Amino acid sequence: TTRQQPYRTGYHFQPAKNWMNDPDAPMIYKGIYHFFYQYNPKRTVWGNIVWGHSASTDLVNWIPHKIPIYPSQPSDINGAWSGSATILPNGKPYILYTGINPRDDQVQNLVVPKNASDPYLRDWVKSPKNPLMAPTAQNQINSSSFRDPTTAWLGHDGRWRVIIGSKIHREGLAILYRSKDFVHWTKSQRPLHSAKGTGMWECPDFFPVYINSQIGVDTLVLDKNVKYVLKLSLDDTKHDYYTIGTYNQTKDVYTPDKGSVDGDSGLRYDYGKFYASKTFFDSAKNRRILWGWINESSSVEDDVKKGWSGVQAIPRSLWLDKSGKQLVQWPIKEIEKLRVNPINLSNKELKGGSVLEVPHVTAEQADIEISFEVSKFGKAEVLDPRWTNPQLLCSQKGASVRGSLGPFGLLVLASKGMQERTAVFFRIFKGHNKYIDRSIVESFGGGGKSCITARVYPTLAINGAAHLYAFNNGTESVKIARLSAWSMKKAQIS
Ligand code: FRU
Repeated sequence: TTRQQPYRTGYHFQPAKNWMNDPDAPMIYKGIYHFFYQYNPKRTVWGNIVWGHSASTDLVNWIPHKIPIYPSQPSDINGAWSGSATILPNGKPYILYTGINPRDDQVQNLVVPKNASDPYLRDWVKSPKNPLMAPTAQNQINSSSFRDPTTAWLGHDGRWRVIIGSKIHREGLAILYRSKDFVHWTKSQRPLHSAKGTGMWECPDFFPVYINSQIGVDTLVLDKNVKYVLKLSLDDTKHDYYTIGTYNQTKDVYTPDKGSVDGDSGLRYDYGKFYASKTFFDSAKNRRILWGWINESSSVEDDVKKGWSGVQAIPRSLWLDKSGKQLVQWPIKEIEKLRVNPINLSNKELKGGSVLEVPHVTAEQADIEISFEVSKFGKAEVLDPRWTNPQLLCSQKGASVRGSLGPFGLLVLASKGMQERTAVFFRIFKGHNKYIDRSIVESFGGGGKSCITARVYPTLAINGAAHLYAFNNGTESVKIARLSAWSMKKAQIS
């Protein structure tokens, strides 16, 4: 089947067929990881939205379960959209999600496990009180822009808090609700945060991160030694942006730090394709894990032909950088279980204008770590101060535009004659890692400080015909200090 389906991934999460978008309600319950997602059970394009569900003991191999949430009551009859799980202090997972009612209004609903002793959480019961939050004539909520509830947290006053993404005109809003019992919710006058000119905020995510530690924090913990992260998926640009700041518990407002900017000019989780992401606290391993949806780059026609659309990024551990100014991400350790047949190289000079093939790897499904050593910094190109947009700069000065210190890096999913290739490269740098999985390339640069994900659809470099090369298209030579490449086994997914 890989012959007919060269783009189906070996270890990135995807359902057996049809359309998938946002990750929903990721959690660990009784030692089992749960992953839910927005799913169209009928077609390869968005629509008829229900939740899909898979469970895992290692976040790598998954067992699919039946549809846990589908339209069945007036408050979700036109769709079961995105939502999040909260593990209550009594250990029970509650899920808040957006339902679409018969008037196509967006409202918030609650589901709870039917049988909390089932670690696979196969059956869910909707609250008879649904919807718990809805747009009304009084509350001035925009009924077509009111969705994607977050994981809730508990204040010192014993009341729950949750935020919902919204907008008024062009101002993005994180609407705040409070509740004593998780069922009756009251809207706060003031949003947790808002920003003019940013448009609709989809899939907000609000969570604490420790200062000076890679250990994760439960959203329920109101520790002093933390910073807060507010992530927003901007509907206008389809990118996930975040700010780092403080949360004032008495006023119930979040304020980004100076220099941490809201909206389009702020920091992104990923500078390629990565959207509607969501984190959860893994209480078994004390880490915070990030899931993100990777849409296709192909045409709808091609998606219909191949019968599926959308994959999930490898789950990433995420923590606050020592600087306190940005987050750092790295693929979960467990993914390394799939590594086989290591190839190692070290201290290898890569002359200006040269290409080196890395042999004996299944180049279409691989994991590569590479670090370069650069000495002749004096020879580096001068950066024009007008080049303030890295994405634009990279597209103008691509891998085929010769420089002096670089471009150098890897050519992945490359065909033998290199007519087809995807370059992942630097023009000066420090440390790097890359995951190739047939139609997706995820790269983690500078130890996870900048991540770039791309969908790639080679026609020649598929199956056994894919090659992997290191290249240097600069005039100066650079040194591959260390390269380790592994072929990746297939995970069990669908
Ligand atoms: C984000 C999103 C959410 C919504 C869901 C519907 O991709 O538009 O705002 O809940 O997808 O599938």
